[in-house]
Amino acid sequence: MSVLTGLFPWIKALHLLSVIAWMAGLLYLPRLFVYHAAARAGSETSETFKVMERRLLRGIMTPALIGTLLFGGLLAATPGAVDWSRGWIYVKLAAVAGLLLIHFLLAQWRRDFAADRNRRSQRFYRLVNEVPTLLLILILIMVVVQPF
Ligand code: HEM
Repeated sequence: MSVLTGLFPWIKALHLLSVIAWMAGLLYLPRLFVYHAAARAGSETSETFKVMERRLLRGIMTPALIGTLLFGGLLAATPGAVDWSRGWIYVKLAAVAGLLLIHFLLAQWRRDFAADRNRRSQRFYRLVNEVPTLLLILILIMVVVQPF
C-alpha cells in the first residue's frame, strides 16, 4: 500500500477544507466588487473595500487555491483513486480550469480597484458572481454522481 493510499482520507479532508475556503472567496470577492463599484473613488468606503479585497485575495483565496490544487493533485496521484477511462474527471478538471480563470480575472480586477481605475458596472460583477456558483454545481455533480 502506498503512502498516499494510507493518507487518502486525510488528504481528501485537506482538499475539501481548501475547496471550501477558495469557493467562499470566489463567491464573496465579486460581491465586494458589486458594492465597491458604487463607491466614489478616494472615499473612505472605497479605501475600506480595498483593504478587505486585498486581505481576502492574499490571505485566504490564494493559499486556498494552492491547497486545492496540491491536495487534489495528491488524490489524483493515489494509485487506483481515479478511473481515468471515465469522462467525469475530465469535465471536473475543465470546470476547475474555469475557476482558475475566474480567480486570475478577479485578481486583475482587484488591482484595477486598488488603482481607482475600475470602469466595470455593478451589473457586470453581479453576472460574474454567478459563474463560480454554476461551475461548483457542475463539479459537485461530477465528483459525487460520476454520471459517465
Ligand atoms: C486540479 C484540481 C483538482 C484535482 C486534481 C482534484 C482531484 C480530486 C480527486 C482525485 C478526488 C477524490 C475522488 C475520490 O473520492 O475518488 C477529489 C475529491 C473531491 N473534490 Fe477535487 N480536485 C480538484 C479540484 C477541486 C475543486 C476546485 C473542487 C470544488 C470546487 C473539488 C471538489 C471535490 C469534492 C467535493 C470531492 C469529494 C468527492 C467525494 O468524496 O465523493 N475538487 N478531487
